[in-house]
Amino acid sequence: MDHSKTILITGATSGFGLACAEKFAGNNYQLIITGRRKDRLDHVAADLKNRFGVEVLSLCFDVRDRAAVIDAIEKLPDEFRNIDVLVNNAGLAAGKDNFDEASLDDWDTMVDTNIKGFAYIAQSVAKLMIQNKKAISLIWVLLLPNRFMLRVICIVPPNTPWAH
Ligand SMILES: NC(=O)c1ccc[n+]([C@@H]2O[C@H](COP(=O)([O-])OP(=O)(O)OC[C@H]3O[C@@H](n4cnc5c(N)ncnc54)[C@H](OP(=O)(O)O)[C@@H]3O)[C@@H](O)[C@H]2O)c1
Repeated sequence: MDHSKTILITGATSGFGLACAEKFAGNNYQLIITGRRKDRLDHVAADLKNRFGVEVLSLCFDVRDRAAVIDAIEKLPDEFRNIDVLVNNAGLAAGKDNFDEASLDDWDTMVDTNIKGFAYIAQSVAKLMIQNKKAISLIWVLLLPNRFMLRVICIVPPNTPWAH
């Protein structure tokens, strides 16, 4: 089987990230999937391998942990370093209270995860893509707190399953 393309999907243990993983596995992509729940991550990896016959590498880390993110991406095995597409999806919506009543702890969690965590992943993967002379193909899924802003930023090359 020709695993000609590699995709890294953060937050692939549930929801949107898991749906992306299934979609790209079904299109014969080799997958790197991440999340914090190791048992769930291992289950998803085994299921995708079994159903789609693709290679899957699971990486368990918290995107808020800058050192862990950098370490995980720097230590990718050779066969997974040539990343074509990043779905920068890991995140959450903490605190849906009105602006004036919102918990500042919730805001901190969201900024640390949805902004800083995103940036750590994006830079680490972009460095690899540039080293590998890839056209940058990044998909961002971003939610900021308390209706400040809602953005879904997709930069999708025309030959990804996304476009079908
Ligand atoms: N659902 C919506 O209506 C909606 C709307 C706009 C934007 N979004 C954004 O879309 C993304 C996915 O949403 P979803 O509804 O699919 O959510 P979900 O089902 O809760 O999935 C979130 C994923 O992110 C991972 N994750 C969360 N915090 C993490 C952290 N600190 N470090 C590493 N992984 C982390 C979770 O994995 P673990 O729990 O295993 O760590 C999980 O795989 C999120 O960024 C969300 O903000 C969602």
